[in-house]
Amino acid sequence: MTNKSKSIIILLLVFSTLISAKNYKEIPWLKTAIDRSQEQLLAASEKYKAGKLNPRTFENGKINFANFKDWTCGFFPGSLWYMYELTNNVKFKKDAEFYTELLDQVQYRKDTHDVGFMLYCSYGNGFRLTGNENYKKVLINGSNSLMTRFHPEVGLIKSWDKRKEWQYPVIIDNMLNLEMLCEVSKITGENSYKKASVSHADKTLENHFREDNSCFHVVNYDSINGKVISKVTHQGFSNSSAWARGQGWALYGYTMMYRETRDPKYLNQARKVATFILNNPNLPADKVPYWDFNAPNIPDAPRDASAAAIYASALVELSSYVKNGKDYLDAAEKILISLSSPTYLAEKGENGLFILKHSVGNLPAKKEIDVPLNYADYYYLEALVRFMKAKEISIN
Ligand code: GLY
Repeated sequence: MTNKSKSIIILLLVFSTLISAKNYKEIPWLKTAIDRSQEQLLAASEKYKAGKLNPRTFENGKINFANFKDWTCGFFPGSLWYMYELTNNVKFKKDAEFYTELLDQVQYRKDTHDVGFMLYCSYGNGFRLTGNENYKKVLINGSNSLMTRFHPEVGLIKSWDKRKEWQYPVIIDNMLNLEMLCEVSKITGENSYKKASVSHADKTLENHFREDNSCFHVVNYDSINGKVISKVTHQGFSNSSAWARGQGWALYGYTMMYRETRDPKYLNQARKVATFILNNPNLPADKVPYWDFNAPNIPDAPRDASAAAIYASALVELSSYVKNGKDYLDAAEKILISLSSPTYLAEKGENGLFILKHSVGNLPAKKEIDVPLNYADYYYLEALVRFMKAKEISIN
Protein backbone atom coordinates (compact mmCIF):
# COMPACT_ATOMS: atom_id res chain seq x y z
CA MET A 1 0.00 0.00 0.00
CA THR A 2 1.35 3.43 -0.92
CA ASN A 3 1.82 6.13 1.68
CA LYS A 4 -0.88 8.14 -0.05
CA SER A 5 -3.51 5.38 0.27
CA LYS A 6 -2.50 4.81 3.91
CA SER A 7 -3.08 8.51 4.64
CA ILE A 8 -6.47 8.40 2.92
CA ILE A 9 -7.53 5.39 5.01
CA ILE A 10 -6.42 7.11 8.24
CA LEU A 11 -8.30 10.27 7.27
CA LEU A 12 -11.43 8.26 6.50
CA LEU A 13 -11.18 6.45 9.86
CA VAL A 14 -10.77 9.74 11.77
CA PHE A 15 -13.68 11.27 9.84
CA SER A 16 -15.99 8.30 10.44
CA THR A 17 -15.16 8.35 14.18
CA LEU A 18 -15.94 12.05 14.30
CA ILE A 19 -19.29 11.70 12.61
CA SER A 20 -20.31 8.62 14.64
CA ALA A 21 -19.25 10.11 18.03
CA LYS A 22 -22.25 11.57 19.79
CA ASN A 23 -22.57 14.72 21.77
CA TYR A 24 -24.57 14.59 25.02
CA LYS A 25 -26.85 17.32 23.66
CA GLU A 26 -28.24 14.86 21.13
CA ILE A 27 -29.58 12.62 23.91
CA PRO A 28 -32.35 14.51 25.72
CA TRP A 29 -32.34 12.57 29.00
CA LEU A 30 -28.55 12.84 29.24
CA LYS A 31 -28.54 16.55 28.48
CA THR A 32 -31.10 17.12 31.24
CA ALA A 33 -29.11 14.93 33.62
CA ILE A 34 -25.80 16.69 33.09
CA ASP A 35 -27.15 20.22 32.89
CA ARG A 36 -29.26 19.84 36.04
CA SER A 37 -26.42 18.17 37.93
CA GLN A 38 -24.13 21.07 37.08
CA GLU A 39 -26.68 23.65 38.21
CA GLN A 40 -27.37 21.87 41.49
CA LEU A 41 -23.71 21.24 42.30
CA LEU A 42 -22.61 24.78 41.53
CA ALA A 43 -25.39 26.23 43.67
CA ALA A 44 -24.73 23.79 46.53
CA SER A 45 -21.02 24.42 46.45
CA GLU A 46 -21.53 28.19 46.74
CA LYS A 47 -24.22 27.96 49.38
CA TYR A 48 -22.48 25.54 51.76
CA LYS A 49 -18.93 26.90 51.51
CA ALA A 50 -19.14 29.26 54.49
CA GLY A 51 -20.07 26.39 56.83
CA LYS A 52 -16.94 24.43 55.82
CA LEU A 53 -18.81 21.13 55.92
CA ASN A 54 -19.94 18.73 53.21
CA PRO A 55 -23.70 18.39 52.74
CA ARG A 56 -25.11 14.92 53.48
CA THR A 57 -28.89 15.08 53.12
CA PHE A 58 -31.96 17.31 53.20
CA GLU A 59 -34.53 16.07 55.68
CA ASN A 60 -37.60 17.81 57.11
CA GLY A 61 -36.68 21.03 55.33
CA LYS A 62 -33.18 21.13 56.82
CA ILE A 63 -29.71 20.38 55.47
CA ASN A 64 -27.63 17.90 57.49
CA PHE A 65 -23.88 18.14 57.08
CA ALA A 66 -21.14 15.50 57.28
CA ASN A 67 -18.03 16.27 59.29
CA PHE A 68 -14.83 14.19 59.12
CA LYS A 69 -16.36 11.54 61.40
CA ASP A 70 -19.27 10.85 59.07
CA TRP A 71 -18.87 7.97 56.59
CA THR A 72 -20.50 10.08 53.86
CA CYS A 73 -18.14 13.07 54.08
CA GLY A 74 -16.20 12.21 50.89
CA PHE A 75 -19.12 12.00 48.49
CA PHE A 76 -19.84 15.70 47.92
CA PRO A 77 -16.23 16.51 46.98
CA GLY A 78 -16.24 13.33 44.89
CA SER A 79 -19.28 14.59 42.98
CA LEU A 80 -17.46 17.86 42.31
CA TRP A 81 -14.45 15.91 41.00
CA TYR A 82 -16.65 13.91 38.62
CA MET A 83 -18.24 17.11 37.37
CA TYR A 84 -14.79 18.58 36.82
CA GLU A 85 -13.83 15.44 34.88
CA LEU A 86 -16.96 15.76 32.75
CA THR A 87 -16.84 19.46 32.02
CA ASN A 88 -13.22 20.51 32.49
CA ASN A 89 -14.64 23.60 34.22
CA VAL A 90 -11.93 24.84 36.57
CA LYS A 91 -14.58 26.17 38.97
CA PHE A 92 -15.48 22.56 39.79
CA LYS A 93 -11.80 21.76 40.36
CA LYS A 94 -11.36 24.65 42.79
CA ASP A 95 -14.52 23.72 44.68
CA ALA A 96 -13.58 20.04 44.71
CA GLU A 97 -10.22 20.97 46.24
CA PHE A 98 -11.88 23.13 48.87
CA TYR A 99 -14.35 20.45 50.00
CA THR A 100 -11.77 17.64 49.74
CA GLU A 101 -9.24 19.40 51.92
CA LEU A 102 -11.81 19.81 54.70
CA LEU A 103 -11.29 16.10 55.29
CA ASP A 104 -7.61 16.17 56.15
CA GLN A 105 -8.12 14.52 59.56
CA VAL A 106 -9.77 11.42 58.12
CA GLN A 107 -6.37 9.94 57.18
CA TYR A 108 -5.57 9.33 60.87
CA ARG A 109 -8.82 7.64 61.79
CA LYS A 110 -8.38 4.08 62.98
CA ASP A 111 -11.79 3.67 64.55
CA THR A 112 -13.78 2.84 61.40
CA HIS A 113 -13.49 0.94 58.14
CA ASP A 114 -15.15 3.80 56.28
CA VAL A 115 -11.89 5.70 55.62
CA GLY A 116 -11.90 4.04 52.20
CA PHE A 117 -15.23 5.61 51.26
CA MET A 118 -14.27 8.94 52.83
CA LEU A 119 -10.84 9.32 51.26
CA TYR A 120 -11.05 7.45 47.98
CA CYS A 121 -14.09 9.36 46.68
CA SER A 122 -12.53 12.72 47.62
CA TYR A 123 -8.71 12.56 47.65
CA GLY A 124 -8.70 9.46 45.41
CA ASN A 125 -10.56 11.17 42.58
CA GLY A 126 -8.52 14.31 43.18
CA PHE A 127 -5.27 12.38 42.87
CA ARG A 128 -6.51 10.54 39.76
CA LEU A 129 -7.40 13.80 38.03
CA THR A 130 -4.58 16.10 39.19
CA GLY A 131 -1.69 13.91 40.38
CA ASN A 132 -1.45 16.14 43.51
CA GLU A 133 1.36 14.60 45.64
CA ASN A 134 -0.23 15.76 48.90
CA TYR A 135 -3.37 13.84 48.02
CA LYS A 136 -1.23 10.76 47.40
CA LYS A 137 0.25 11.09 50.92
CA VAL A 138 -3.25 11.30 52.40
CA LEU A 139 -4.27 8.12 50.56
CA ILE A 140 -1.19 6.29 51.87
CA ASN A 141 -1.70 7.50 55.46
CA GLY A 142 -5.40 6.63 55.23
CA SER A 143 -4.57 3.15 53.98
CA ASN A 144 -2.11 2.64 56.84
CA SER A 145 -4.87 3.63 59.26
CA LEU A 146 -7.31 1.24 57.56
CA MET A 147 -4.76 -1.60 57.66
CA THR A 148 -4.70 -1.39 61.48
CA ARG A 149 -8.20 -2.86 61.26
CA PHE A 150 -7.05 -5.92 59.30
CA HIS A 151 -6.30 -8.80 61.63
CA PRO A 152 -4.46 -11.60 59.81
CA GLU A 153 -5.87 -14.35 62.04
CA VAL A 154 -9.42 -13.35 61.02
CA GLY A 155 -8.40 -12.36 57.47
CA LEU A 156 -10.83 -9.44 57.29
CA ILE A 157 -11.00 -5.70 57.97
CA LYS A 158 -13.21 -5.09 60.99
CA SER A 159 -16.08 -2.75 60.17
CA TRP A 160 -17.28 -1.35 63.47
CA ASP A 161 -16.03 -1.03 67.06
CA LYS A 162 -17.97 -0.78 70.27
CA ARG A 163 -21.06 -2.72 69.23
CA LYS A 164 -21.87 -4.89 72.21
CA GLU A 165 -23.92 -7.37 70.20
CA TRP A 166 -21.03 -8.28 67.85
CA GLN A 167 -17.41 -9.36 68.39
CA TYR A 168 -15.95 -8.71 64.97
CA PRO A 169 -18.62 -7.36 62.59
CA VAL A 170 -17.94 -7.17 58.88
CA ILE A 171 -20.54 -5.54 56.64
CA ILE A 172 -20.86 -6.05 52.90
CA ASP A 173 -20.34 -2.27 52.41
CA ASN A 174 -16.72 -2.84 53.51
CA MET A 175 -15.90 -4.29 50.05
CA LEU A 176 -15.78 -0.71 48.74
CA ASN A 177 -12.95 0.23 51.11
CA LEU A 178 -10.69 -2.24 49.30
CA GLU A 179 -10.45 0.02 46.24
CA MET A 180 -8.24 2.54 48.04
CA LEU A 181 -5.99 -0.25 49.36
CA CYS A 182 -5.53 -1.71 45.86
CA GLU A 183 -4.70 1.76 44.52
CA VAL A 184 -2.17 2.40 47.28
CA SER A 185 -0.48 -0.93 46.51
CA LYS A 186 -0.01 0.32 42.95
CA ILE A 187 1.30 3.76 43.88
CA THR A 188 3.66 2.53 46.59
CA GLY A 189 4.69 -0.82 45.08
CA GLU A 190 3.92 -2.38 48.49
CA ASN A 191 1.81 -5.50 48.07
CA SER A 192 0.51 -5.90 51.63
CA TYR A 193 -2.48 -3.58 51.05
CA LYS A 194 -3.64 -5.63 48.08
CA LYS A 195 -2.97 -8.91 49.86
CA ALA A 196 -5.26 -7.82 52.70
CA SER A 197 -7.91 -6.78 50.14
CA VAL A 198 -7.80 -10.18 48.46
CA SER A 199 -8.06 -11.95 51.81
CA HIS A 200 -11.05 -9.77 52.76
CA ALA A 201 -12.78 -10.32 49.42
CA ASP A 202 -12.19 -14.10 49.57
CA LYS A 203 -13.54 -14.47 53.06
CA THR A 204 -16.52 -12.24 52.29
CA LEU A 205 -17.25 -14.35 49.24
CA GLU A 206 -17.16 -17.46 51.40
CA ASN A 207 -19.43 -16.20 54.17
CA HIS A 208 -21.63 -13.31 53.07
CA PHE A 209 -23.62 -14.95 50.25
CA ARG A 210 -26.71 -17.10 50.28
CA GLU A 211 -27.81 -19.87 47.91
CA ASP A 212 -29.77 -17.38 45.78
CA ASN A 213 -26.69 -15.08 45.50
CA SER A 214 -28.16 -12.33 47.63
CA CYS A 215 -26.04 -11.31 50.60
CA PHE A 216 -26.31 -10.76 54.30
CA HIS A 217 -25.56 -7.29 55.58
CA VAL A 218 -23.47 -8.15 58.66
CA VAL A 219 -21.37 -11.24 59.36
CA ASN A 220 -20.12 -11.39 62.92
CA TYR A 221 -16.85 -13.31 63.36
CA ASP A 222 -14.99 -14.66 66.36
CA SER A 223 -12.15 -12.20 66.84
CA ILE A 224 -9.67 -14.91 67.91
CA ASN A 225 -10.20 -17.74 65.44
CA GLY A 226 -12.11 -15.97 62.63
CA LYS A 227 -15.04 -18.42 62.68
CA VAL A 228 -18.51 -17.13 61.79
CA ILE A 229 -20.71 -16.53 64.83
CA SER A 230 -23.80 -15.03 63.22
CA LYS A 231 -25.20 -13.54 60.00
CA VAL A 232 -27.62 -10.69 60.53
CA THR A 233 -28.78 -7.31 59.31
CA HIS A 234 -28.38 -3.76 60.54
CA GLN A 235 -30.09 -1.67 57.86
CA GLY A 236 -32.19 -4.27 56.07
CA PHE A 237 -35.74 -5.48 56.76
CA SER A 238 -34.69 -8.76 58.36
CA ASN A 239 -31.68 -11.04 58.82
CA SER A 240 -32.76 -13.09 55.83
CA SER A 241 -33.84 -10.24 53.55
CA ALA A 242 -31.93 -8.66 50.67
CA TRP A 243 -31.23 -5.04 51.63
CA ALA A 244 -31.13 -3.21 48.28
CA ARG A 245 -28.03 -1.08 48.85
CA GLY A 246 -26.15 -4.04 50.30
CA GLN A 247 -26.68 -5.94 47.04
CA GLY A 248 -25.23 -2.86 45.31
CA TRP A 249 -22.13 -2.87 47.48
CA ALA A 250 -21.64 -6.56 46.62
CA LEU A 251 -22.07 -5.96 42.88
CA TYR A 252 -19.75 -2.97 42.88
CA GLY A 253 -17.22 -4.59 45.21
CA TYR A 254 -16.71 -7.79 43.22
CA THR A 255 -16.68 -5.96 39.87
CA MET A 256 -13.96 -3.67 41.25
CA MET A 257 -11.98 -6.59 42.72
CA TYR A 258 -12.08 -8.32 39.32
CA ARG A 259 -10.65 -5.13 37.78
CA GLU A 260 -7.86 -5.10 40.36
CA THR A 261 -6.96 -8.83 40.26
CA ARG A 262 -8.46 -10.36 37.08
CA ASP A 263 -9.44 -13.32 39.28
CA PRO A 264 -12.42 -14.95 37.49
CA LYS A 265 -14.10 -15.96 40.75
CA TYR A 266 -14.74 -12.27 41.50
CA LEU A 267 -16.20 -11.70 38.04
CA ASN A 268 -18.36 -14.76 38.50
CA GLN A 269 -19.65 -13.44 41.82
CA ALA A 270 -20.39 -10.00 40.37
CA ARG A 271 -22.40 -11.66 37.59
CA LYS A 272 -24.35 -13.77 40.06
CA VAL A 273 -25.25 -10.66 42.08
CA ALA A 274 -26.25 -8.84 38.87
CA THR A 275 -28.54 -11.74 38.00
CA PHE A 276 -30.10 -11.68 41.47
CA ILE A 277 -30.83 -7.96 41.12
CA LEU A 278 -31.89 -7.75 37.49
CA ASN A 279 -34.04 -10.90 37.44
CA ASN A 280 -35.65 -10.24 40.78
CA PRO A 281 -39.47 -10.28 40.59
CA ASN A 282 -39.50 -7.43 43.13
CA LEU A 283 -37.37 -5.12 40.98
CA PRO A 284 -39.79 -2.50 39.60
CA ALA A 285 -40.03 -1.89 35.84
CA ASP A 286 -37.97 1.33 36.09
CA LYS A 287 -35.20 -0.70 37.80
CA VAL A 288 -35.03 1.56 40.85
CA PRO A 289 -35.36 -0.93 43.73
CA TYR A 290 -37.45 -0.77 46.84
CA TRP A 291 -35.17 -0.15 49.82
CA ASP A 292 -35.19 -3.90 50.52
CA PHE A 293 -36.10 -6.62 48.00
CA ASN A 294 -38.17 -8.25 50.77
CA ALA A 295 -39.75 -5.11 52.18
CA PRO A 296 -43.14 -6.11 53.60
CA ASN A 297 -45.20 -3.37 51.98
CA ILE A 298 -44.13 -3.69 48.35
CA PRO A 299 -45.38 -2.00 46.10
CA ASP A 300 -45.87 0.81 48.64
CA ALA A 301 -42.38 0.55 50.13
CA PRO A 302 -40.02 3.50 49.56
CA ARG A 303 -37.61 3.25 46.66
CA ASP A 304 -33.86 3.70 47.11
CA ALA A 305 -32.31 5.81 44.35
CA SER A 306 -28.89 5.43 45.98
CA ALA A 307 -28.98 1.65 45.43
CA ALA A 308 -30.05 2.19 41.82
CA ALA A 309 -27.16 4.60 41.21
CA ILE A 310 -24.66 2.10 42.65
CA TYR A 311 -26.11 -0.66 40.43
CA ALA A 312 -25.84 1.57 37.34
CA SER A 313 -22.22 2.47 37.97
CA ALA A 314 -21.19 -1.13 38.68
CA LEU A 315 -23.14 -2.50 35.69
CA VAL A 316 -21.41 -0.14 33.26
CA GLU A 317 -18.05 -1.39 34.49
CA LEU A 318 -19.18 -5.03 34.52
CA SER A 319 -20.38 -4.69 30.92
CA SER A 320 -16.79 -4.09 29.81
CA TYR A 321 -15.51 -7.40 31.24
CA VAL A 322 -17.87 -9.90 29.61
CA LYS A 323 -18.95 -11.05 26.16
CA ASN A 324 -22.65 -10.30 26.60
CA GLY A 325 -21.86 -6.93 28.18
CA LYS A 326 -24.55 -5.15 26.19
CA ASP A 327 -27.25 -6.52 28.49
CA TYR A 328 -25.54 -4.98 31.51
CA LEU A 329 -24.95 -1.69 29.70
CA ASP A 330 -28.60 -1.60 28.60
CA ALA A 331 -29.72 -2.23 32.18
CA ALA A 332 -27.46 0.58 33.41
CA GLU A 333 -28.88 2.90 30.75
CA LYS A 334 -32.42 2.02 31.78
CA ILE A 335 -31.61 2.87 35.42
CA LEU A 336 -29.95 6.15 34.41
CA ILE A 337 -32.92 7.14 32.25
CA SER A 338 -35.24 6.47 35.20
CA LEU A 339 -33.09 8.44 37.62
CA SER A 340 -32.90 11.31 35.12
CA SER A 341 -36.69 11.55 34.86
CA PRO A 342 -38.70 14.11 36.86
CA THR A 343 -39.66 11.35 39.31
CA TYR A 344 -36.11 11.18 40.68
CA LEU A 345 -34.21 14.19 39.30
CA ALA A 346 -34.64 17.33 41.39
CA GLU A 347 -35.97 20.54 39.90
CA LYS A 348 -33.41 23.32 39.69
CA GLY A 349 -32.86 24.94 43.10
CA GLU A 350 -34.96 22.36 44.99
CA ASN A 351 -34.21 19.23 47.04
CA GLY A 352 -31.68 21.06 49.25
CA LEU A 353 -29.62 21.44 46.03
CA PHE A 354 -29.00 17.67 45.86
CA ILE A 355 -29.39 16.04 42.44
CA LEU A 356 -31.53 12.97 43.13
CA LYS A 357 -34.65 12.54 45.22
CA HIS A 358 -36.03 9.36 46.89
CA SER A 359 -33.25 7.48 48.67
CA VAL A 360 -33.34 5.59 51.95
CA GLY A 361 -30.52 5.81 54.48
CA ASN A 362 -31.57 3.61 57.39
CA LEU A 363 -35.22 2.64 57.49
CA PRO A 364 -35.15 0.36 60.55
CA ALA A 365 -33.64 3.27 62.53
CA LYS A 366 -36.33 5.54 61.04
CA LYS A 367 -33.59 7.78 59.63
CA GLU A 368 -33.34 9.31 56.18
CA ILE A 369 -36.40 7.76 54.58
CA ASP A 370 -37.27 9.06 51.11
CA VAL A 371 -34.66 11.81 51.10
CA PRO A 372 -31.77 12.93 48.91
CA LEU A 373 -28.37 11.50 49.90
CA ASN A 374 -24.90 12.65 48.88
CA TYR A 375 -23.88 9.11 47.92
CA ALA A 376 -26.85 8.69 45.59
CA ASP A 377 -25.60 11.78 43.73
CA TYR A 378 -21.98 10.58 43.75
CA TYR A 379 -22.69 7.14 42.23
CA TYR A 380 -25.19 8.67 39.77
CA LEU A 381 -22.47 11.02 38.46
CA GLU A 382 -19.90 8.23 38.42
CA ALA A 383 -22.34 6.10 36.44
CA LEU A 384 -22.96 8.94 33.97
CA VAL A 385 -19.22 9.45 33.47
CA ARG A 386 -18.67 5.71 32.96
CA PHE A 387 -21.68 5.44 30.65
CA MET A 388 -20.52 8.33 28.47
CA LYS A 389 -17.05 6.80 28.19
CA ALA A 390 -18.51 3.39 27.31
CA LYS A 391 -20.71 4.92 24.61
CA GLU A 392 -18.09 7.45 23.47
CA ILE A 393 -20.40 10.37 24.15
CA SER A 394 -18.67 13.74 24.43
CA ILE A 395 -19.72 16.87 26.24
CA ASN A 396 -17.92 19.56 24.24
N1 GLY B 1 -22.34 2.14 54.32
C1 GLY B 1 -23.54 2.48 54.95
C2 GLY B 1 -24.72 2.46 54.05
O1 GLY B 1 -24.70 1.97 52.95
O2 GLY B 1 -25.74 2.94 54.49
